[in-house]
Amino acid sequence: MQHKAGLGGEKANSFRHKNNLRFRQDFIILPDKNYQIRNPPRNNMTVSKEKWGSRAGLVLAMAGNAVGLGNFLRFPAQAVQNGGGAFIIPYLVSFLLMGIPLLWIEWAIGRHGGQYGHHSAPGMIHAIGRRPLWKYVGVFGIFTNLAVSAYYCYIESWTLGYVWYSLTGAFGGKTAEQVSLFFNQYLNIGGGHFFNFSTAAVFFFLVTLGINIWILSRGLAKGVEMASKIGMPLLLVFGAFLAIRALTLDKGEAGAINSALDGLNFLWQPQFDSLTNPKVWLAAAGQIFFTLSVGMGSIQCYAAYLRKNDDIALNAASAGWMNEFVEVVLGGSIIIPIAVAYLGLDWIQANVGFEMGFRTMPTLFQNWGPILAAVAGVAWFGLLFFAGITSSLAMGQPVMAFFQDEYKMSRNRSALSLGGILFVMALPAVFLYEMGAFGEYDYWAGTFSLVAFALLETIAFAWVFGMDKGWAEINRGADIKIPGFFKYVIKYITPLFLLAVFIGSLFKPANSEWVGALSSFVRGNGWPLANDSVIGTILNKGIADKRWFVDGMPSQVFVIDATRLLLLGVFLGIAFLVYRAWRRKEKAS
Ligand code: ALA
Repeated sequence: MQHKAGLGGEKANSFRHKNNLRFRQDFIILPDKNYQIRNPPRNNMTVSKEKWGSRAGLVLAMAGNAVGLGNFLRFPAQAVQNGGGAFIIPYLVSFLLMGIPLLWIEWAIGRHGGQYGHHSAPGMIHAIGRRPLWKYVGVFGIFTNLAVSAYYCYIESWTLGYVWYSLTGAFGGKTAEQVSLFFNQYLNIGGGHFFNFSTAAVFFFLVTLGINIWILSRGLAKGVEMASKIGMPLLLVFGAFLAIRALTLDKGEAGAINSALDGLNFLWQPQFDSLTNPKVWLAAAGQIFFTLSVGMGSIQCYAAYLRKNDDIALNAASAGWMNEFVEVVLGGSIIIPIAVAYLGLDWIQANVGFEMGFRTMPTLFQNWGPILAAVAGVAWFGLLFFAGITSSLAMGQPVMAFFQDEYKMSRNRSALSLGGILFVMALPAVFLYEMGAFGEYDYWAGTFSLVAFALLETIAFAWVFGMDKGWAEINRGADIKIPGFFKYVIKYITPLFLLAVFIGSLFKPANSEWVGALSSFVRGNGWPLANDSVIGTILNKGIADKRWFVDGMPSQVFVIDATRLLLLGVFLGIAFLVYRAWRRKEKAS
């Protein structure tokens, strides 16, 4: 049904309301009149009636979305690689100037989009953008969730496998080398194979994927919310147990060669010279993105199930701070202090990485005796599993919501479709792990896309939708008074910060020597691109032999390039689905 331009929002909606009892009361006032004129809801439109069951459930689900493997595996690795205390200040500044504002922006975009029946990014960004093209920015919000959850569920499945191995005492009596080798065997890596096929890893992956899809198919309140209400408290209990055990480790006790507090000192002694180091800033900003799950499209999706006047100001801040508590306090008090106590700071600085949680921790737990080792193993990998699943559910929900809202699929069918797509998308990450497919997923979907989407959605929100409307949207129903200066932060500082991170990652110079690179450029000697800058990565700068086939076999470059093409294909495929969904709507209205 086409509405005439200029028809008032309230009038038009009360008209629809009378004719369609399925419309909720919340829909009677639509804040963006222009959007409604361009995109009139149809009489036969079914609007998702799913809502959060309780405020506690919502905050736990949102915190669970943020608290993930990144808090316990990625954060410690990033902190150590970037100088411990040197990392913390840029990290906290990024949280305040970019993380918190993005949380408010995304919650607001989500709650606003939900009022139009959109629970995934294309429709939401369309609702705040002025032109139809904006909905394609929302493609990022589907793409990132799909591609990240494909490899994320795989890591999540390792944690499930390792809970099993800890319970069955598989690590008992093994040396450090044997435990590390166990990891290689579990993934079938380290033997120079082209395919990393391992029955155990595939089995646990399928179980993990199945659990995710089953929970999602149960719906928001009975599935996601219930999982968060169980998983988050257990995670906190496991985390507190491990942190207390870790921090009470003294030199000479239970085989420790150092005090665990040495690890904490390393992490917490601020080094102010880091403030001028762009490498640390980029790493800190990247961690804030990943850990808060901003720039993904999952926060917006969860917020879309709020009612029009539900608070977002306090809820967003609570979920964000809860994530930071879990990351810096719990995440910072387990792996680094324990590893420093047993292996020393130098060892950690040379060996840290996200695999350390699997390769090293089970051996270190053995120092605590067989029973405590098994308990600690179950607590550590159980904590990782709960952290992981509450995040992967948040990545699955937007994709399902897209199918449900824009293609009118049933919940079960959406869940099954998501399962099928995830299974296929995970295949390269699982089987070509060592050939580089996994790393490509992480780089393009888990790092680059987050920044690109966050930058574009911030522009859409603060500059296209408009900061006055945006500020009103954030503050409607607010249970706290957000300091007024955040309005200016969101309008100017956050976009500039994001732009700096975006440009910084595109052109990152070798060794992050920005001053040297600038002077080289000015002197006409070119810009020394870092291998892992976005452009350097596209050009495969770090790889000397760029042939696709060597001795008749596909090379690593081939796998890397093919993975990129696959990811690009997925992105374009989603864009096509968005195009088709809107075409169908236009035809039907
Ligand atoms: N925010 C999630 C994590 O930290 C993705 O793992």
